[in-house]
Amino acid sequence: MNSPIIAPSVLAADFANLQRDIEMLNESQADWIHIDIMDGMFVPNISFGLPVCEAINKHAKKPLDVHLMIEDPDRYLEAFRDAGAATISVHYEACNHLHRSLQFIKSLDCKAGVAVNPHTNVQLLEDTIQDIDMVCLMSVNPGFGGQKFIENTYKKVRQLKEIIAENNASTLIEIDGGVNANNAPMLLEAGADVLVAGNFVFKSMDPAGTIEELKSLR
Ligand code: DX5
Ligand code: ZN
Repeated sequence: MNSPIIAPSVLAADFANLQRDIEMLNESQADWIHIDIMDGMFVPNISFGLPVCEAINKHAKKPLDVHLMIEDPDRYLEAFRDAGAATISVHYEACNHLHRSLQFIKSLDCKAGVAVNPHTNVQLLEDTIQDIDMVCLMSVNPGFGGQKFIENTYKKVRQLKEIIAENNASTLIEIDGGVNANNAPMLLEAGADVLVAGNFVFKSMDPAGTIEELKSLR
């Protein structure tokens, strides 16, 4: 089995020292940089928007994995591509025409991701799985970092893995929320490919060492 793709979430970084933290990620074994965009409508919190994404992109040497927790994300897809996004994930619950949104993301030459809330059944992705480059399974209710991992996620990873296999798709499974060194081995065992980690990385004594620890799991 391959080693997991590690995507630290800058939501847990020190915003007053963002350049320093991005440079730490550049030097670390992180594969991607996870960027959480919250609009105060789809989720009960506001994080940051396009100018901050652009600023991160200026320093980042790794692909930006942009997670849009916003209503009607089609309005901003092109702008986030221009701000440096390599992957753009929209929420299943925020798209009236998910298939169209996915085609739109691909037409921008970005990888197309779909994020699903803890209450959303992964079977709902069966008819679009061929068009999805990555499913971001939320293992907390989106809106805040530092929340407790929801145990039901393991079951969802296994179900999703089956749907991907049955449809001969090459969709990656990303886990987002409350990921740490205790739950990561079981997530990988269940079939996860990408681990997002915010607090576990940035609030540790040695963030680069913590990334290395996650990267070496399997
Ligand atoms: C939650 C965000 C997550 C968050 C993860 O709404 O989508 O990406 O930053 O943070 P931790 O790892 O601290 O739960
Ligand atoms: Zn996220």
